[in-house]
Amino acid sequence: MTNPARQMRRRAEAAARRELARAGSGNRLQRKHDANRGGRRFYHGTTAVLADVIRSEGLRPGRDGRCYLTDSRYMAGRYASWATALAATVDHSWLPTSDVGKRAAAMGGLVAVIVHCRLPPSVVVHEEHGSSCPPLPWESTAVDGTAFFVAQPIEPSMLPNFELQAMPEFEDAATLDLVRRESELIAATFRRNHAPTDAHAPSAASDFKRDIPEPSDLIAAVIAGSPNADSAYHGVDHWRGVAAAGARILEAGCPADPAVVFMFSLLHDAQRHSEGRDPDHGRRAADLLRSLSGVHRLGEAQLDVLQRALVDHDRGLTSDDLTIGACWDADRLTLGRVGVTPRAELLSTAAGRALLDTPDRIPAGEACDWPWVVFRYQLSQAVQRLEVPVPT
Ligand SMILES: [Fe+2]
Ligand SMILES: [Fe+2]
Repeated sequence: MTNPARQMRRRAEAAARRELARAGSGNRLQRKHDANRGGRRFYHGTTAVLADVIRSEGLRPGRDGRCYLTDSRYMAGRYASWATALAATVDHSWLPTSDVGKRAAAMGGLVAVIVHCRLPPSVVVHEEHGSSCPPLPWESTAVDGTAFFVAQPIEPSMLPNFELQAMPEFEDAATLDLVRRESELIAATFRRNHAPTDAHAPSAASDFKRDIPEPSDLIAAVIAGSPNADSAYHGVDHWRGVAAAGARILEAGCPADPAVVFMFSLLHDAQRHSEGRDPDHGRRAADLLRSLSGVHRLGEAQLDVLQRALVDHDRGLTSDDLTIGACWDADRLTLGRVGVTPRAELLSTAAGRALLDTPDRIPAGEACDWPWVVFRYQLSQAVQRLEVPVPT
């Protein structure tokens, strides 16, 4: 651990001790107020601009419908540095609007803050120690174990039930500088540990948000056009599982086209007529693709790759085209759901083969939701952009 990180940890631990001491001798009125409000206090580390999103929309950092919380102030500091590295790469359109955001911006641009919130227990899901949910691309380098909590999406009507406040001790310039340095370290470590192993340059043309601006419209259109969306083995849950596996392949450094992989996951089994042998379902999926021009903006070259991936996806082939390979690997990495162990020699990408050793990194389709999956695809592009140094 570097000196800045150690300093931040010491500072966080001292702050936590002070808070514990305050809690022990806190005044009766405050305790009564807390009891009346119910709920429990958690910490969340984020950039100032993301803190604004939390304030204005409820707990939706990352726009993925979830909030990543911890009961450790130190880990919130780590979250804050992740968020700084992420916000530097994923989307520069967020501008601070709150007092906290403006103060932080005045301190020199992209900075991190930590907020705490009091949430009703009903919206908080405890994740097992060490499961680091949701896993971020930096998890292998940065998560060093504490309890994480995931809050379910919170309805606007529930907003009065919780509080968000900036933690002043994390807003001072020295701490923010430490967090910023931590984020640089994370980004550098990430680059070192996640160097692409698939020998192929990323496509400069791919842009998930541009190619699929409204993922929910696309998902709804495919479901509407599918005769087997409710199928147990090849229905929507399977499509979502393939999409999650594809996201993991992208995050592991495979420079495939994320919009093509995402559309493949939706379409490849959407035109099955039976759960068993159905040799034409890939071609029918390609036919369905032609009716979807109003809900995506893929170009001709992308559509050509996607059609080839769809038509041949069940032929037991591998591909040198990493986008087609990522599509087929994502499908094969979900074979465990029908009791089949995927075989390394039938996978096309190094990232897919690496995932064979850590299958628990791929959630089952039933265990995730579309906003989470879509966020992973948007994040996968941010990860590629982490090659750009974090601003200082
Ligand atoms: Fe299939
Ligand atoms: Fe499939």
